[in-house]
Amino acid sequence: MTYRGPKAYIHTDRLKQNLRNIQRHACDRNLICAVKADGYGHGASIIANSIKNEPGVSFAVFTFEEALELRNENIQNDILIFSRFQKERIQSSLDLNLTLNVSSIQDLKTLISFYHRHQSVPKFHVKFDTGMTRLGIDIEDAAIIYELISKEDGVEPEGIYSHFSTADEGDLSYAELQLNQFKSVIQLGQKSGIKFKEIHFTNSGALLNIPDAFYTSIRVGMLLYGAAPSDEVSMDIDVEPVMSFCGPIVNIRRVKAGTPVSYGGVYITEKDTYIAVIQTGFADGLPRQWFENGIVGYKGQTFKIAGRICMDQFMVDFGDILPVEGEEVLLFGKKDANELPVETIANEIGTTTYVLLTAIHGRTERIII
Ligand SMILES: Cc1ncc(COP(=O)(O)O)c(C=O)c1O
Repeated sequence: MTYRGPKAYIHTDRLKQNLRNIQRHACDRNLICAVKADGYGHGASIIANSIKNEPGVSFAVFTFEEALELRNENIQNDILIFSRFQKERIQSSLDLNLTLNVSSIQDLKTLISFYHRHQSVPKFHVKFDTGMTRLGIDIEDAAIIYELISKEDGVEPEGIYSHFSTADEGDLSYAELQLNQFKSVIQLGQKSGIKFKEIHFTNSGALLNIPDAFYTSIRVGMLLYGAAPSDEVSMDIDVEPVMSFCGPIVNIRRVKAGTPVSYGGVYITEKDTYIAVIQTGFADGLPRQWFENGIVGYKGQTFKIAGRICMDQFMVDFGDILPVEGEEVLLFGKKDANELPVETIANEIGTTTYVLLTAIHGRTERIII
């Protein structure tokens, strides 16, 4: 039986082109591609497998389990794990050649004591908090960290990094403060004789906004998937949406003017019209708030969402156009003659492209193009 429900078409040709355009913009620096949260809803293994052989590509995930999944998919590239590591996972991380995140003095001490017992440690990057106030070593503790590292010959970080909190905003003054903090912490490390093979600070916002922060590698997520990180950046890198999110038309009926549609009857047809039922709902990641001004794409035209989006389905007002049952409408992305940027929905309902893309999972079937 063929599957009936939402589909996410994953355009891997666009993904590769986005990657190349980003790499060119970043003067061929290494790209640490963020494939956490199941590749921002696109399928981590689909994304990683599509670009694993491109030059200068490694991956970042949030959890050990996400990294394990990629290794099980035969992804051999370096994988950096962003979360705090668990003691119990150090040996497996070493065995699987995963790169850990050291984001506290305690993390470093834990790795040092592992080294004393096993004469080896997994690769790790030291993360400093420069103003995000999330994971990361306090700048004031940099000297302690460097002293601990200098004393242990076998415990050397591969990389040093930090994370911007406002790099995708119009006002970059806070990002500049963060960058200055980061510069000082790198200098202190270098003065202490520590060599960092990889230095990285840039996310999608900084890629567009802060060329001074490029260093050796770029950690990139949203731009790779072809969407803007916010509505405040100017999109100077040419990217196309990797996901086209679509839902099938499963029922069509002609209704009279004045017919209420969906829960609460808040949508009332203005004239006699075709109302189609689409098998996709908020449980599939289509945001419920989108019903107020929402539209879908069909054969190069847009049509209004009629009434509240339900858990598994919603309705579209096609007017006098009789759509074909079994065909699909475009919910966001770019496919065939239809284009509906995910950014439009994010701006209309006051959310972000990150929230919308990572909501696509569960019953949605992913189809690789
Ligand atoms: C630590 C870290 N680096 C890089 C990224 C990638 O960010 P973006 O998707 O904005 O490129 C993220 C995403 O949230 C992150 O948490």
